[in-house]
Amino acid sequence: MIISATTDYREAARRRLPQFLFDYIDGGAYAEHTLRHNVSDLASIALRQRVLKNVADRSLETEIFGQKLAMPVTLAPVGLTGMYARRGEVQAARAAASRGVPFTLSTVSVCPIEEVQKKSPAPIWFQLYVLKDRGFMRNALERAQAAGITTLVFTVDMPVPGARYRDAHSGMSGKNAHFRRMIQAVTHPGWSWDVGLRGRPHDLGNISAYLGKPTGLGDYIGWLGSNFDPSISWKDLEWIREFWKGPMIIKGILDVEDARDAVRFGADGIIVSNHGGRQLDGVLSSARALPAIADAVKGDIKILADSGIRSGLDVVRMLALGADCTMIGRAYTYALAAAGEAGVANLLDLFAKEMRVAMALTGVRSIAEITRDSLVH
Ligand code: FNR
Repeated sequence: MIISATTDYREAARRRLPQFLFDYIDGGAYAEHTLRHNVSDLASIALRQRVLKNVADRSLETEIFGQKLAMPVTLAPVGLTGMYARRGEVQAARAAASRGVPFTLSTVSVCPIEEVQKKSPAPIWFQLYVLKDRGFMRNALERAQAAGITTLVFTVDMPVPGARYRDAHSGMSGKNAHFRRMIQAVTHPGWSWDVGLRGRPHDLGNISAYLGKPTGLGDYIGWLGSNFDPSISWKDLEWIREFWKGPMIIKGILDVEDARDAVRFGADGIIVSNHGGRQLDGVLSSARALPAIADAVKGDIKILADSGIRSGLDVVRMLALGADCTMIGRAYTYALAAAGEAGVANLLDLFAKEMRVAMALTGVRSIAEITRDSLVH
C-alpha cells in the first residue's frame, strides 16, 4: 500500500461519489495490469540520495512552450470532470492557475471551452480527440482559438475506446437503461450529490455547442463509440498543424518510432502516455517506455509524461527518466471529487512540497539538474 495525499483523496472520493462515477475515474482497461504497473513501476525506481550539496536554494520553476510554470506539473485532460464536482472543470482550472500550472480541458468536458477559459485566471490548454466528424473538430479548434487558447493537446491513443470491464460492471454504458437511470438520479434536484447546476441536466458542453442543442450524458459512451475514428493517420493531422498556430502536443506516444514520427511531423511536444492504463491493457508502463523515447528524441521535441504519477516523488522520477514536464490525471481528479478547487490546490501544494524534499535529498537545486544521475542504476 502506497501512502500519499493521492491515496487519501482517492478514499475520500470513493466515499463521496456514486460508485459508477468513482469506478469510471479509478478503473482501467481489461484486468488493469497496465494501470497497476504504471504506479508500481514508477514507485519502484530508486532515487539516489546525495548529501552535503548545499541545497538551501531550490527552485521548482520551469518553462515549456514559452510559458513559465511554477513546477513541472500540468493537469491532464479528464472527461466528464464536471460530474465529479459542480462545474468541476472551472474549479480545477482555477486551482491550477492559483498554483501556476496549466489545466488541460478535455474534448468531452461538461463545461464548454468558453466558460472554462473565461473563468480561469490563467490560460488553459485544450485537448482534442480524433473524431469522424471533422466538422466537430474544426468547430472545437475555432472556438478554442477564438477563446484565446494557444496550446493544443492532440490525443491519438484512442482510435477505438478501450474495453473497460469495471465500467460495464458498474453500469457506465450509454446504451443501457440502468446508466440512464443513474444519470437521472445524480442530476435530479433532490439528489444529495451536488454536481452540475441543480435541476439542469448535465451536458457535454463542447458537443452541445457544436450541435446547437443539449446532448445530455445518456448517450455519452454511445457517442464516443460511434465517433472515434480508427482510420486516422499522420497525414490526416496535417490540416490541424496548418490551422493551429500555437504549440501542438501529441498525447499517447509509447513507442520510439512513433516519437520519431512526431518529430518528423513537426509536433512541438509529445506526451508519453498509455492513457492511464485505460486503453490497451498489457502495454508498457510509461515509466518503462520513457527512457528509450528520451534517448531517441530528447532535445528535438518537448517530452511530457503521464500515467501512474501519484506524488511529487513520482514527478521527480519521471523527470529523471527523461521527461521535461509531467501530467497528472487521477491524482487531481480524486482531490477535486473529494474537496473541489481547494482539494486540487492542496494536492498541488503537497506535490510541490514533496518535490522540494526530494530535490534536497538528491542534491539538486533546479529542475534542469534532475537527470538520470538522480537515479540509482
Ligand atoms: C482520462 N484521460 C483522458 N485523456 C484525454 O486525452 N482525454 C480525455 O477526455 C480523457 N479522459 C479521462 C477520464 C478519466 C476519468 C481519466 C482517469 C483519464 C487520460 C488522462 O489524460 C491521463 O492520460 C491519465 O489520467 C494519466 O494517468 P494517471 O495520472 O491517471 O495515472
